[in-house]
Amino acid sequence: MILVTGGAGFIGANFVLDWLALNDEPVINLDKLTYAGNLETLASLQGDARHVFIQGDIGDQSLLTRLLADHRPRAVIHFAAESHVDRSIQGADEFIQTNVVGTFRLLEAVRAHWASLPEAEKNAFRFLHVSTDEVYGSLAPDAPAFTENRAYEPNSPYSASKAASDHLVRAWHHTHGLPVLTTHCSNNYGPYHFPEKLIPLMIVNALAGKPLPVYGDGMQVRDWLYVKDHCSAIRRVLETGAPGETYNVGGWNEKPNIEIVHAICALLDELRPRADGASYATQITHVKDRPGHDRRYAVDARKLETELGWKPAETFETGIRKTVIWYLEHTEWVAHVQSGAYRQWVTSHYEVA
Ligand code: NAD
Ligand code: DAU
Repeated sequence: MILVTGGAGFIGANFVLDWLALNDEPVINLDKLTYAGNLETLASLQGDARHVFIQGDIGDQSLLTRLLADHRPRAVIHFAAESHVDRSIQGADEFIQTNVVGTFRLLEAVRAHWASLPEAEKNAFRFLHVSTDEVYGSLAPDAPAFTENRAYEPNSPYSASKAASDHLVRAWHHTHGLPVLTTHCSNNYGPYHFPEKLIPLMIVNALAGKPLPVYGDGMQVRDWLYVKDHCSAIRRVLETGAPGETYNVGGWNEKPNIEIVHAICALLDELRPRADGASYATQITHVKDRPGHDRRYAVDARKLETELGWKPAETFETGIRKTVIWYLEHTEWVAHVQSGAYRQWVTSHYEVA
């Protein structure tokens, strides 16, 4: 079996759902259920013996030690993190605790577990650390996309905490020999994305008749990847990546934010036209910029494509259409997130180990 951390969050939950749809290897899912953790996303796995959910903190080393000893996973996929840049600007405590100290505790528990394994299991074991392109900093408009050799220049408290965790992971390989893999992915979007992030926020606000808040001039560029393509990249790196290596993951879909917002408005105009016949684009409002806002990210994913043969399945156009349709069809999931009812799901609908 595999152990996933943060498997009730956006990417982690998509990963768990896809993993169990593709094969029968069980998943131990360790998640603290912060505001970003949503077990309602995993409702289809209720009663499925292949999914064992544990509510807990990656910083709880005795819990980790017990879990690893009881379940003996062949791999750990580490998604758990505080992930929202704006929240890290409001206050970075949780980012340091989870992303840095939590990753350290997890690495220590995993190292002890790995060291105790028989030789064959030890050789096959993997620790896959899910990192971000944000650790590389901001690119000039015509600079080449980030490669894996790019120097780290994290600019936000979030990206600094992720960079710190990457360095710990690297050191645990270099010094202790732990067989680690690190991925650096660009901006994800798709089903079950918490509506504090750009794409789901714009969809949800548009449908609610609220303003669509674009930071600054909206010309900041991100490189967008459909979440299921990120999940397929992680599976590929897990099975064929070389220990100690880092892999960039991206979809070659660089777009300024304002273009993303217009694309969402155009899809909603087509799929769910406003009653008054006006475009959702009339709701766009430019607001104060994010402090320290990185101007451009772009990911060069050629190493993953050429060495491991991975390719994304979706273009931005196919992925964003699927995403908008998903939000139109999952109004209950959205409503429960907005009302806070999703936080009761754990006690009312789900058996927590
Ligand atoms: P998310 O915020 O949606 O989910 C994070 C999950 O981690 C939540 O379920 C939360 O409850 C859990 N968690 C938080 N602190 C924890 C702790 N101390 N112990 C156990 N669980 C804890 O995040 P996401 O967008 O799914 O991102 C997952 C990972 O991918 C993160 O490491 C993030 O840095 C990375 N990443 C995200 C993106 C993106 O576009 N969202 C892109 C590249 C990399
Ligand atoms: O690049 C990967 C990163 O992508 C991940 O590591 C992070 O976990 C993830 O949250 C994401 O970070 P961003 O800051 O790029 O994502 P966010 O959705 O918050 O913002 C995307 C862009 O849209 C960014 O330039 C800020 C802008 N924005 C965001 C919000 C929420 C707006 O203009 N208005 C908004 O209301």
